[in-house]
Amino acid sequence: MLDAIYFHIPFCSQKCGYCDFLSFASDGEMRKKYVNYLIKEISLYPEYKYDTVYFGGGTPSLLEYKDVEKIIKNIEVAPCAEVTMEVNPKTVDLNYLKKIRSLGVNRLSMGVQSFNDRLLKILGRIHNSQEAIDTYLDARKAGFKNISLDLMFSLPGQTIEDVRTELKQLFKLRPEHFSIYSLIWEEGTPFYKKLEKGEFQITDNDKEAEMYELIISEAEKAGYVHYEISNFALPGFEARHNSKYWENREYLGIGLGASGYIKDLRYKNQVQFFQYYDSIDNGIIPIMEKEKVEKKEFKEYEYILGLRLLKKGIKPEKEYLGKCLKLEKTGFLERKENSFVLSKKGIMLANDVLTEFL
Ligand SMILES: C[S@@+](CC[C@H](N)C(=O)[O-])C[C@H]1O[C@@H](n2cnc3c(N)ncnc32)[C@H](O)[C@@H]1O
Ligand code: SF4
Repeated sequence: MLDAIYFHIPFCSQKCGYCDFLSFASDGEMRKKYVNYLIKEISLYPEYKYDTVYFGGGTPSLLEYKDVEKIIKNIEVAPCAEVTMEVNPKTVDLNYLKKIRSLGVNRLSMGVQSFNDRLLKILGRIHNSQEAIDTYLDARKAGFKNISLDLMFSLPGQTIEDVRTELKQLFKLRPEHFSIYSLIWEEGTPFYKKLEKGEFQITDNDKEAEMYELIISEAEKAGYVHYEISNFALPGFEARHNSKYWENREYLGIGLGASGYIKDLRYKNQVQFFQYYDSIDNGIIPIMEKEKVEKKEFKEYEYILGLRLLKKGIKPEKEYLGKCLKLEKTGFLERKENSFVLSKKGIMLANDVLTEFL
């Protein structure tokens, strides 16, 4: 059943040095035009009823509240749906947050990245730590009861003590959910260039593993459930939209460069504005690439994504049972009732374990 929709908003005030997500500088006019095309794109699909709606980016909070309203009014949102918007600190004020709340946005995902001003500067963020905390507190004042914060670790020059300090600040705020990603050195980014020039160094594997172990143990002590490799939630606040990705369920992706999964087709939209607009003007769904998911690939996705869900795991069918038993024997998987889940050792080496299912 298709009941999830993702909108990609490809605009940012300033590009962060490490990021290679699809996003550009923009002005109000460009953003208005883009929103009109999002609405035209939705009309190219049959009408569905959405139980989860996700505005991601980029920086969706650069959209005017009227534009967010326009999009929401053009789709059918189920009662009790989870409606998430990614919000960048310093791009919104209390008034904006109250307005989007009144439109039905009931979950925020805030990109904090770090509470350390030195690291925030290195990352090229537009806010300092206090400004991120202020946006978070404004969101509480606006009535948001489900907030997720994004953080990163394994950053240039970051120490174990730095990570400990980040976690203390995080747990003081006590968001319902947080995601924490180890830095990926994306080719072509300013960070990557600095790495090549020797201005930055990659954190060594042992130190990165030590940081990750610290995050897991401190989060658990603070009452968070480590339910996905990079995601932690207070009980009952697991991300409903993202969980659908990991459960290998269908979702509609709308917008420039958005990916989606409908029936047996995984697709990615055009990544150039002119091609995206041109296709929609011609009444054609603006897909750039598609992959037909045959039975074998469906299974691969099911295992690779399913194992990311650390509490749920996978229920292997006959042809995969041997592989699971072998990984159990070597200590990477463990049994949980009828399922297999990643063990502690498996979580630390998740990428290697997951590729076993390819
Ligand atoms: C799509 S971004 C959007 C978030 C929002 N625009 C912001 O930055 O505040 C989602 C998250 O991906 C993470 N991220 C982006 N680039 C990354 C990289 N190179 N390595 C690890 N995590 C990254 C950041 O934590 C970011 O908050
Ligand atoms: S991390 Fe977020 S704010 Fe920074 S460039 Fe990427 S999408 Fe934009």
